[in-house]
Amino acid sequence: MDHSIHACLLLVILQITSIAAVTNTVDVSALNALKHAWQNTPTNWVGSDPCGDGWVGINCSDSRVISITLSSIGLNGQLSGDIQYFSELQTLDLSYNKDLTGSIPPAIGNLTKLANLTLIGCSFSGQIPDTIGSLQELTFLALNSNSFSGKIPSSIGNLSKLYWLDLADNKLTGPIPVSNGSTPGLDMLVKTVHFHFGMNQLSGTIPPQLFSSNMVLIHSLFDSNQLTGSIPSTLGLVKTLKAIRFDRNLLSGTVPSNLNNLTNLSVLHLSNNHLTGPMPNLTGMNVLSYVDLSNNSFDATDVPSWISTSGSLTTLVMEDTQIQGAIPPALFSNPQLQTLRLKNSRLNGTLNITDFSVQLQLIDLQNNSIQNFVESGVYHNELILLGNPVCEGTGATASYCKSGQSMSSYSTSSVNCVPVPCPSGQSTSPNCKCSYPLMGTLFFISPSFSDLGNSSYYEALEGSLMKSFGTLQLPVDSVSLSKLNWDSNDYLEIWLEVFPSADDRFNQSVIIGISSVLSYQFIEPPPHFGPHHYLPYCSDSSVNSMSSVSLGIIIGAAIGGFLVLLVLTSAGFYAYRQRRRADRVINQNNPFASWDRSQSRGRIPQLKGVRWFSFEELKKCTGGFSEDSEIGAGGFGKVYRGTVASGQQVAIKRAQQGSMQGSGHEFKTEIEMLSRVHHKNLVCLVGFCFEQGEQILVYEYIPNGTLMGNLSGKSGILLDWMRRLQVAVGSARGLAYLHELADPPVIHRDVKSTNILLDERLNAKVSDFGLSKLMNDNGKSYVTTQVKGTLGYMDPEYFMTHQLTEKSDVYSFGIVMLELITARKPIERGTYIVRVVRVAMDKTRDLYGLHELIDPVILSGKTLEGFEKFVDLAMNCVQELAANRPTMSEVVKEIESIMELAGLNPNAESTSTSGTYEGPSKGTLYRPYSNEFCDYSGDYLPSIVQPH
Ligand SMILES: *[C@@H]1O[C@H](CO)[C@@H](O)[C@H](O)[C@H]1NC(C)=O
Ligand SMILES: *[C@@H]1O[C@H](CO)[C@@H](O)[C@H](O)[C@H]1NC(C)=O
Ligand SMILES: *[C@@H]1O[C@H](CO)[C@@H](O)[C@H](O)[C@H]1NC(C)=O
Ligand SMILES: *[C@@H]1O[C@H](CO)[C@@H](O)[C@H](O)[C@H]1NC(C)=O
Ligand SMILES: *[C@@H]1O[C@H](CO)[C@@H](O)[C@H](O)[C@H]1NC(C)=O
Repeated sequence: MDHSIHACLLLVILQITSIAAVTNTVDVSALNALKHAWQNTPTNWVGSDPCGDGWVGINCSDSRVISITLSSIGLNGQLSGDIQYFSELQTLDLSYNKDLTGSIPPAIGNLTKLANLTLIGCSFSGQIPDTIGSLQELTFLALNSNSFSGKIPSSIGNLSKLYWLDLADNKLTGPIPVSNGSTPGLDMLVKTVHFHFGMNQLSGTIPPQLFSSNMVLIHSLFDSNQLTGSIPSTLGLVKTLKAIRFDRNLLSGTVPSNLNNLTNLSVLHLSNNHLTGPMPNLTGMNVLSYVDLSNNSFDATDVPSWISTSGSLTTLVMEDTQIQGAIPPALFSNPQLQTLRLKNSRLNGTLNITDFSVQLQLIDLQNNSIQNFVESGVYHNELILLGNPVCEGTGATASYCKSGQSMSSYSTSSVNCVPVPCPSGQSTSPNCKCSYPLMGTLFFISPSFSDLGNSSYYEALEGSLMKSFGTLQLPVDSVSLSKLNWDSNDYLEIWLEVFPSADDRFNQSVIIGISSVLSYQFIEPPPHFGPHHYLPYCSDSSVNSMSSVSLGIIIGAAIGGFLVLLVLTSAGFYAYRQRRRADRVINQNNPFASWDRSQSRGRIPQLKGVRWFSFEELKKCTGGFSEDSEIGAGGFGKVYRGTVASGQQVAIKRAQQGSMQGSGHEFKTEIEMLSRVHHKNLVCLVGFCFEQGEQILVYEYIPNGTLMGNLSGKSGILLDWMRRLQVAVGSARGLAYLHELADPPVIHRDVKSTNILLDERLNAKVSDFGLSKLMNDNGKSYVTTQVKGTLGYMDPEYFMTHQLTEKSDVYSFGIVMLELITARKPIERGTYIVRVVRVAMDKTRDLYGLHELIDPVILSGKTLEGFEKFVDLAMNCVQELAANRPTMSEVVKEIESIMELAGLNPNAESTSTSGTYEGPSKGTLYRPYSNEFCDYSGDYLPSIVQPH
């Protein structure tokens, strides 16, 4: 190839005048082109000799650039076709730059020497170009955790040296390509050891041709796709396999009987499909450790015998299956057994746990038909028999008839030192040194164990991490693992913090080094962990919202964009760490003991209007918490709709086991607080339930759903400009009441469009006080708390200082106002609404020149009276400095004056009585506040007059 011609072209096109001293001129020009295309390139990228001057992230050999590794440095921009000019490039790694967007240019196919192409955790989209199949030297291809769409290019089949293929966590569709005549396919990848395709939208059947005895695959991971048809028996030919994941697809048919030929297989996930036929017979699979066959349609069967005789089983999950009969006692004595989850089946007879594995941590047999339990008194770990006959009647008080007991979970602790309080924003390392750690989540996709408390595993993982960092001479003081958790994909999530040893923060080259260790699986964890994905903690929204003032301060102290992120995130998570340590204590007492249930027909005398519901009643009125009655879900648990005995429709918010606030005392505090606030723009608490380990709040039912849902147009209700003003004034009044009239005052802490509900007449009602904080009466105008809230709505000042004031709610409300105007989410495609509006705003123009951003729904109506004042108010609410923001009552006044401008009477009831609205209440007589417990017509709000 003629380099000089290309160099000339580049010189012309890019007008690069500097001539390299040592580095090849084409490479210099191409690097300068990348530098121009990206923001946040390393600060030492200056001069004309990248190789000679040691540009961060660039490695050279014989004056040619052979490696570009720029992971986790906050690069912003697109990957341009200029990448093709690095003709000697072997490694291209741009992982963990959330702001890298656009597609991969087809010209990448020119990089014929490329061995590593690693673009993990960016925001690349579009199709993966076919030319990728020209990269004949490629051994490591990791494009996971982006937004790639379209089909998997069949040309990948030509990558005959490929060792690692990871396309997981994208939006890939279409079939799994296999070879056909001259068309290549994945079946040709006979040197590939890792197939990671989970979390996409792949469809079609699994081609039998995909697997053959020539292959050396160890991991075959296709979980969470839309694959149909049956599992081909050719899978049984790939003897090297250690982990198979086909769970969470639409697979049907019987499981091939030769699966037990796979004698190296340790992990098998087939759950959540439509598999039929006999339960697989896994006899003879001598290293099988983790098996999940849940939620399929296998034939009814007794507990299979292989389960009791397998010597290696650590984890058996068979929930929602048809297994029946008594549980053979031998099952528990599998020597490695840690977890047994067999809920929602038909097991019966007498449960007898006498001989059991010393490692056994959890036996979950909820909702079976077990009649008796022979308590031998030696098994003390978690056992759940809730929903079995043995838990009815007198048995119901036994500890195994409750759920929500806590299991121990590992977290790195300080050794041989006393943790010191650190300056705000820094964290204490396990060696008790204060610094800004690098933070992120490790996702282990196919571990062969399930015990979250076994410190020997996790200490070994810490050791492997430290060893890998040491090998590369990275200045790491220590690592900390915490927040261990099985996520909804059955991945083991571990929160990782890496602490610097030399300074109080890592420099860019070290961050790149650490990221590489994590992307290329250099760590050799104890073998049962298996491969992982890593994603650094990312709070783009918070960074974005820190514009102007506070950002300037931080940038002064930090070296680059990524460090800004570190500062902010450590602040957030320091508080979390502190709490975690205290969280272990679980209070078994009933804090409600002092409330006498028998009095006042179940009403609690101390709490005006709040009822005590029995778990049975709530279970009954939600059809056993059936999916049909589910109307919402979130981190806290689920929300159901039901009609209680009085005939009132209610929304029942049931805390998920594990998400609970810990002690019932906090729950009680929350109820007491909720029972004290009464306003027509706040959702009213009807009652609660605290029994059988459940924490349930019962609210009035608000029929028209969330503001967010209505803005997205899903509900079919047209929110025109007038109605939006009504919603704004209503929710502002609710918040003003909480801040200024409630006694003691309440800060909501999680104001957002999903927490504003609309009733029959589109009156706004603020909901979800789960995070609320009472203002103490201690003279301070703020409370110091752990940072909670929702990204995108969070007040940057609160985030920085942890000092919560009413103004934090004002900030969040400003975001909601911007949503009302634009109908877009606060963070969309990596951009933050405040910045988008601020940048687009031109006060000299009509509607401030925001036409492009305004929700077309309101734009199509008549003129937007008062629009500019509304925007001014919203932007005032999201002022950087809390002191510059208005109070909620000032906000109310201002919206009222805008309404008057728009010809609305701010004190009239909602406009939705006008015939245009046809909501669910049509045809039924509207009875305002018909329920006796949520009656605002009395003491609280004398001004409300509702037509009957
Ligand atoms: C890249 O490939 C295209 C066609 O495959 C070719 O025209 C072009 O010259 C190549 N560029 C370089 C720098 O080799
Ligand atoms: C691929 O990248 C890894 C990590 O930087 C490196 O160790 C390895 O040598 C690279 N492979 C080649 C062929 O450059
Ligand atoms: C694999 O399984 C099939 C069916 O169970 C059996 O006939 C065959 O002999 C097995 N092959 C090997 C190599 O074990
Ligand atoms: C399971 O397979 C083993 C050996 O392949 C066999 O001995 C046993 O009878 C089978 N069990 C059932 C229930 O089919
Ligand atoms: C347990 O279930 C099996 C199968 O449904 C049934 O045959 C058996 O009688 C039941 N045993 C008891 C004690 O109810």
